[in-house]
Amino acid sequence: MDLVSAPSGESSSLKNPVLEVASADVSKAGTATENIAAAKGEVSQSEYETDSDGSGDEWETQSLYEDAIQVLRDEQLREGVPDACTLDEAVAYRKRLHEIGKAAFVEETLGQDTVTAKKLCTAFGILPPAFLDDAPDEAFHPLLAIAISREFSRRPKLPQYNTIDDAVRLLKECKNIVVLTGAGISTSLGIPDFRSKDTGLYSQLAHLGLSDPQEVFDIQVFREDPSIFFSIAKDILPTEKKFSPTHAFIRLLQDKGKLLTNYTQNIDNIEANAGVLPENIVQCHGSFATATCVKCQRKVMGDEIFDEIKKGVIPQCTSCPTIFAEDSGVKRKRNSNGVHRSRKDNDGDSSDDDYEIPTAGVMKPDITFFGEDLPDEFGHRLLHHDRDRVDLVIVIGTSLKVAPVAEVPGVLPRTVPQLYISRTPVSHTEFDIDLLGDCDVVVSELCRRAGWELKHEMIPADEKVEVLPVEGYESRHVFKVVGA
Ligand code: OAD
Repeated sequence: MDLVSAPSGESSSLKNPVLEVASADVSKAGTATENIAAAKGEVSQSEYETDSDGSGDEWETQSLYEDAIQVLRDEQLREGVPDACTLDEAVAYRKRLHEIGKAAFVEETLGQDTVTAKKLCTAFGILPPAFLDDAPDEAFHPLLAIAISREFSRRPKLPQYNTIDDAVRLLKECKNIVVLTGAGISTSLGIPDFRSKDTGLYSQLAHLGLSDPQEVFDIQVFREDPSIFFSIAKDILPTEKKFSPTHAFIRLLQDKGKLLTNYTQNIDNIEANAGVLPENIVQCHGSFATATCVKCQRKVMGDEIFDEIKKGVIPQCTSCPTIFAEDSGVKRKRNSNGVHRSRKDNDGDSSDDDYEIPTAGVMKPDITFFGEDLPDEFGHRLLHHDRDRVDLVIVIGTSLKVAPVAEVPGVLPRTVPQLYISRTPVSHTEFDIDLLGDCDVVVSELCRRAGWELKHEMIPADEKVEVLPVEGYESRHVFKVVGA
């Protein structure tokens, strides 16, 4: 019964990279190295393919079981599913797996005939497919192998951290906090996030006729036709020197000497407005702060091209024409502004008409597009500076759907507590405490309870926040402004 070696083979066939990443045991050096490679940017930015409803709860395989696997949620186990584990049993099995490892776990369960593979699958969130109903128990081994591997690779929740008081105590006691942020921390300033159902940027792009709205940030698409990106760039361009209460919170952590690093996926550069120092920030996906000519590589300050971006115009390099003038006498192919010519434009006529004075290159904001490497600083700082120092991780306002940033919580030591602050919980990464609601409200209430003064004009002086437990979750809490 080789359930332990099977998972890697099985999981490598999984379409969903969440599982591929998760199937690695990050507590082992070898796997950490793979993640280091990813973190260093040797693996470029890519989105985790998740379920269509965006909940992150479903997952896919290319195996025999494709379309047959159904996810069994903890809520269902709590309510009771025929022939499945109870939630208490499931939690106990998961805990035991993490305690003793995969091989010993399989031996202790299936090896001792204490439970069937079919039932054990349910402990790890898999509802046995109907077509296997009358099959012998061995038929469930491949499924169980995937399930065990997937569970083992997850960072298990630390059981000692559950309440708001725990979160506040961590804030007060910890001295080296990694803050990982996403678009949710800027939405209160009117900047849309990406994936929120009706308000996110990607839900507004149907008119562009892209097969996937994320193509606006795809480097190949940009090279083919930069006008697609520039048609929406004005909507995400930071215009005013504003910052949200959550940015102010990160600044407060810095002022208290507690901010180890703010890894931001945001390209709005708003952290700077709040006074977060450049040495404390890693802009994982770059920013609008600078722009580079795709042709001559000249770099300029981002605001030099802001006016054109606001008008929806494609900014052109002003240095390229000078370079061409110096390089006179050399004829260049038409359309040499760094934009790839489509095949249909090329009529194969090699007459002089094909030659003209070259045009300037396009100025591309220094944003990391899908298909581009992350800045080297990302992986280097994470693994060689923060990993050994961090004592608390706070993830705020991100769906954690884009690799390799989404791997950060898994790359950091598993004993370090992790808090998640967002409107929407995630299920592919397990945090110790989920603090749900508007992040500005959550951080201001945390500060109030910590006795810290978080000053910001958007936080009403008399704001009262109620914190409600989420039924069935010991460590999940919803923050609401009283009377809102
Ligand atoms: P997403 O839009 O994927 O996720 C934002 C998350 O923040 C969602 O879970 C929202 O529910 C939550 N949220 C929104 N407003 C909030 C608020 N006021 N308070 C609390 N939570 C709030 O954005 P990211 O995770 O940042 O890449 O997206 C990651 C990357 O995907 C981006 O960096 C971008 C995109 O493709 C590039 O720009 C290159």
